[in-house]
Amino acid sequence: MFSAAENHLETRLVHEGTLRSELGETSETLYLTQGFTYESAESAEARFLNEEPGYSYSRFSNPTVAMFEERMAGLEGAEAARATASGMAAVTAALMGQVRAGDHVVAARALFGSCRWVVEDLLPQFGVPCTLVDGPNLAEWRQAVRPETRTFFLESPANPTLEVIDIAGVARIAHEAGATLIVDNVFATPLFQRPLALGADCVVYSATKHIDGQGRCLGGVILASQDFIETKVQQFLRMTGPTLSPFNAWVLLKGLETLPLRVERQTRTASALAEALHDHAKLARLTYPGRADHPQAELIARQMSGPSTMLALDLAGGKEAAFRFMNALRIVKISNNLGDAKSLVTHPATTTHQRFAPELRAQMGISEGLVRLSVGLEHPDDLLRDLARALDAA
Ligand SMILES: Cc1ncc(COP(=O)(O)O)c(C=O)c1O
Repeated sequence: MFSAAENHLETRLVHEGTLRSELGETSETLYLTQGFTYESAESAEARFLNEEPGYSYSRFSNPTVAMFEERMAGLEGAEAARATASGMAAVTAALMGQVRAGDHVVAARALFGSCRWVVEDLLPQFGVPCTLVDGPNLAEWRQAVRPETRTFFLESPANPTLEVIDIAGVARIAHEAGATLIVDNVFATPLFQRPLALGADCVVYSATKHIDGQGRCLGGVILASQDFIETKVQQFLRMTGPTLSPFNAWVLLKGLETLPLRVERQTRTASALAEALHDHAKLARLTYPGRADHPQAELIARQMSGPSTMLALDLAGGKEAAFRFMNALRIVKISNNLGDAKSLVTHPATTTHQRFAPELRAQMGISEGLVRLSVGLEHPDDLLRDLARALDAA
């Protein structure tokens, strides 16, 4: 019997949660079935009453998905995890499962575009207004609280600006207000930041990013205490059905086996690229959480155990220069994904954050020249050559 308690993270990411069948297969079994049969009508009744253990329907639970959930819970140090079809399904369920009409939400202003749509457009449609605040400014979180505030939501480091928020500070304000805190930890990865240990009540991931990390499938996951999952998330997921496919859960289990190897290597390369490129003449600014000139370097040292696979490059020549740079790249690909084995660049102002008016983008720190770089597994020298040549051409 595998003991998570006595093993290191790398070992647990290969073994934890494995449900081996009587055939003794090496790789986790892919239970590609939408449902399960029962020995008798009595057994079906007992299964639905939760009086008998076992699976009934893959919208509710599935053994391959359960293996992924258990491995993720072990990685995050969470009591419970629920997988979802995508990162956005995880964000939406974590928020919608908690609020009722008349409640109020506070969220950081600098969010991934779809996350911001959920808090700014979707929740108000159901009578749940949202106040957006400047995430690093704790006084703004405190001022935004109302008696009916139910939950806080933030990303740190934020997509795409790499702005960092004091998670422990925001958690304290949330708890004083009787609210919960949800943290989208996609950019930090579970390896470099532990929001639950910092006081957050719930962590969400797009597993599409570093957890798969090889461009194969979408997925998401919600991690929290058993009570949080049971009282706020479980029923919402079971009844509305944003379920992770067993096939994708199997792919994500394979991704977890190599997550530390990939993220550590990608981060080493990202750090080297940040050092080599930070004073390039075509850049107005290079932001990287591992550099001493990051505006929140002191908070990063306190809150994170490693920097990031992501860089933000602000081209001095605006959109035209950013496009020239991106079009001149030969190895690095243009994409809106991140956390992948392939290095990828994104121009947020014209893609992920296109729907925002220029003033709103400016408030979020997204300039016309900003290019988000997700560093992959290519050789660092090849990436540096590609990026430096394309910057020269910008
Ligand atoms: C910070 C953040 N949260 C959530 C998501 C949504 O994830 P998915 O595309 O898996 O729905 C993304 C996707 O880019 C993201 O960057």
